[in-house]
Amino acid sequence: MEQLILSLSYLVGSITFIMGLKMLSHPEKARRGNLIAATGMTIAIFATIFLWESPETHEHLHNYGWIFGALLIGTVVGTMTAKKVQMTAMPEMVSLFNGMGGACAMLISVIEYNKPEPLTTDRLSVIVLGMVIGTVSFAGSAIAWGKLNGRIKDKTIPGGQIINFILLGGMLVMAIALIGGFVSSPAVFYAILAMAALYGILFVMPIGGADMPVVISLLNSFTGVAAAFGGFLYNNPVMLTGGILVGSAGTILTILMCKAMNRSLKNVLLGSFGKKPVGTGDGPAKEQGSVKEISLSDTATLMAYSQRVLIIPGYGLAVAQAQHACHELEKILEEKGVEVEYGIHPVAGRMPGHMNVLLAEADVPYEKLLEMEEANEKMASTNVVLILGANDVVNPAAKEDPSSPIYGMPILEVEKADHVIVNKRSMKPGYAGIENDLFYKPKTSMLFGDAKKVLQDLASELKQL
Ligand code: TAP
Repeated sequence: MEQLILSLSYLVGSITFIMGLKMLSHPEKARRGNLIAATGMTIAIFATIFLWESPETHEHLHNYGWIFGALLIGTVVGTMTAKKVQMTAMPEMVSLFNGMGGACAMLISVIEYNKPEPLTTDRLSVIVLGMVIGTVSFAGSAIAWGKLNGRIKDKTIPGGQIINFILLGGMLVMAIALIGGFVSSPAVFYAILAMAALYGILFVMPIGGADMPVVISLLNSFTGVAAAFGGFLYNNPVMLTGGILVGSAGTILTILMCKAMNRSLKNVLLGSFGKKPVGTGDGPAKEQGSVKEISLSDTATLMAYSQRVLIIPGYGLAVAQAQHACHELEKILEEKGVEVEYGIHPVAGRMPGHMNVLLAEADVPYEKLLEMEEANEKMASTNVVLILGANDVVNPAAKEDPSSPIYGMPILEVEKADHVIVNKRSMKPGYAGIENDLFYKPKTSMLFGDAKKVLQDLASELKQL
């Protein structure tokens, strides 16, 4: 009976995990999805703690003090950090949590390796693979975390790629020797572990800080795969399902992010993006015209007499923490009978769904957020496009300049609208480090200043109209 309940709880854990993942793809259902998956996993964890028994000795788990002590500390620390974290520091936290998953997989392998039972070839293969992938993920995520919070600077290690190649080759040879029974010394096992840690560090070290979200997503998939190996070791279906799902979701997300930026994974990992100084594209430097500025009162008047305004948020809106001021402006415009919507580029900001989460924080209704394709379809019937701290995602070079590093990246085609107003603080480039011709186009006017201050001032101007 106990084993039936345990199997059922694993089924519940697996099904709720799949349901939760599916629901995470829609902002309205994401919160509930997260909760459902977490509830299912909690059921599976408690069922394991109380009902699991060893197939050999039929003994239940003991060490409850250790288990519940660790659960309590993990829950308190996790909840407190998640509650405190700033939206802009979210990739950093995801990286840290992901690293913990990798560390768990590594420790599982170390513990299983040291058990007194004899190690079959199959078992040893799973232990070594789980240990290598978990350790790479742990070490890489720790570096990613350090880079994102500025503790570790981007560093190209001379000959880094060759060292990594040697490390990979060395790990492969040693793993074959260990698993094949040619050597049996635990020193070889720990040497592989040390090499995996070094590989994780060297692999992430040279990657540009702003490329970290892609790397974190990749490391996330590594952790998933490492956890799946744990599922094999313990013959635990929920760990296996969870690991495989995390592994595949992380891989799909990595591919989607690269596609949305029109970059290959190799290009991200070798970090050749945004490193060129401004104005040194592959072609000759272009003659730039002059930009046209617009005043706050003219912007307010233009928007107040529009039928349709499309707001395009970007990384700068998140930096300025101007989401609430933005929603305020949207409400004032709507009171004046202006239709306001948002155009969301898939890689606007610095993490997947960054703009959706940011605007949801300010209670902007989900139905106002248009995906890029829909926003582009409505562009021609838009009177004013207001770009708030976005740059690369509206750069026409992606369509017009084959020598541009972002050539081929789909963009929000703002030039189809009647007027384009760009808010940013200066003429500095965005993440890709390239000039934006949009700022010099006849339809474009620049509204310089910090997004929050500009939006607050615009709101007061509009109230006076
Ligand atoms: P960016 O191209 O990075 O441009 C952001 C702009 O915001 C900057 O030009 C900056 O200009 C402005 N800004 C900064 N602080 C501001 C403030 N307080 N007030 C007003 N403006 C401010 O941003 P984007 O258009 O959102 O594009 C995202 C980029 O990140 C893409 O290149 C994408 O490939 C990359 N990326 C995205 C992701 C994901 S998953 N989203 C992951 C990795 C990389 P000033 O300094 O002049 O103000």
